[in-house]
Amino acid sequence: KDPALAPTPPMGWNSWNRFRCYDLTEEVVLATADAMVDSGMRDAGYRYLVVDDCWQAFARGDDGRLRSHPRRFPSGMAALGEEIHARGLKFGLYLAPGRRTCAMIYDRYPARDIGSFGYEDLDAETLAGWGVDYLKYDWCRAGGGGTGLDHRGAFERMAAALADTGRPIVYSISEYGMTRPWEWAGEYGHLWRTTPDIGASWRSVLRLADRQHGLARYAGPGGWNDPDMLEVGNHGLGEVESRSHFMLWAMLAAPLFAGNDLRTMSEQTRELLTHAGVLAISQDALGRQGERVARFGRVEVWRRQLSGAVVYGVLNRGRRAISVRVRDDALVLSDGTVLCPLTAESVDVWTGESVQDRKDLWSLRPREMVLLRSPAS
Ligand code: DGJ
Repeated sequence: KDPALAPTPPMGWNSWNRFRCYDLTEEVVLATADAMVDSGMRDAGYRYLVVDDCWQAFARGDDGRLRSHPRRFPSGMAALGEEIHARGLKFGLYLAPGRRTCAMIYDRYPARDIGSFGYEDLDAETLAGWGVDYLKYDWCRAGGGGTGLDHRGAFERMAAALADTGRPIVYSISEYGMTRPWEWAGEYGHLWRTTPDIGASWRSVLRLADRQHGLARYAGPGGWNDPDMLEVGNHGLGEVESRSHFMLWAMLAAPLFAGNDLRTMSEQTRELLTHAGVLAISQDALGRQGERVARFGRVEVWRRQLSGAVVYGVLNRGRRAISVRVRDDALVLSDGTVLCPLTAESVDVWTGESVQDRKDLWSLRPREMVLLRSPAS
């Protein structure tokens, strides 16, 4: 693989979280491409527009090649790729290594033979011919149906097929963390899922964040742990929850794939997704993943080392607001417990304000996270 394709965690948009199977159409994709440009997301770093499961026709063509669904993608994938590229974006597509895609298993997508088993070279070549720049390869019980595939072998086969095309393609390995992919996927992929699917709920966000513990050392420039795509701005997460979710993913050096409807998102959601201070943490050149370093009851402290700086995150997981305050060179709880060190130059990443200017009590609402950035000493 070419690690230079993902020096920092990849960013983009993916259709699955919001549009799932049957709402996915080329109109949606093109309007989303326009919205990525008009909202400032492209210029903030969201480059990949990834079309997930259900773009395919229900069967391969007579030549064995995959085709797009004739009613929902009538113009075809090569034309779609051109439109995406014309907007200064990169084109991502979805395949599955076995005989079936997940939608065929879980969403009754009535297709035949559209898994890539036995078609790896042909499918890689087809995608490269369409101008695809990013592949999400999604396990979906690929070992069944008599394929005899094991996880690592399946992802290795496609890695080889992609390499043979000669086209630079970011490779996303999606097997939901089942076989500790952080231990092997970095050899082939630029990102690998570490968990089951995210849902649009605070519970799900916390559950996935908790499962990243101990994985930081496996991530770095060229290959990233992927706790799944963003639910920011989707029904089920409020404003504070979306913000904390986004901040946690930035601290985790997680790939940032927006999963909401960009055509209709609120100004609040747009501001969150394009927040320069949070994105600078996510995309820091050192590429070191952050982690939770302490817990005091329902309060958690996270830490991420950046190039030339350090960021602490304080997250209130409880149901009640908590008070914190700045004391000398530390942020403390009201009983004096030290949460994290501060310096004279520490800044609240969200507001951009100097922390030392706020000597009063701060209230951290339930589910709220605050990020404090200080120059490295
Ligand atoms: C399972 C993956 O985890 C999801 O992100 C999505 O790609 C679906 N499969 C599509 O069927």
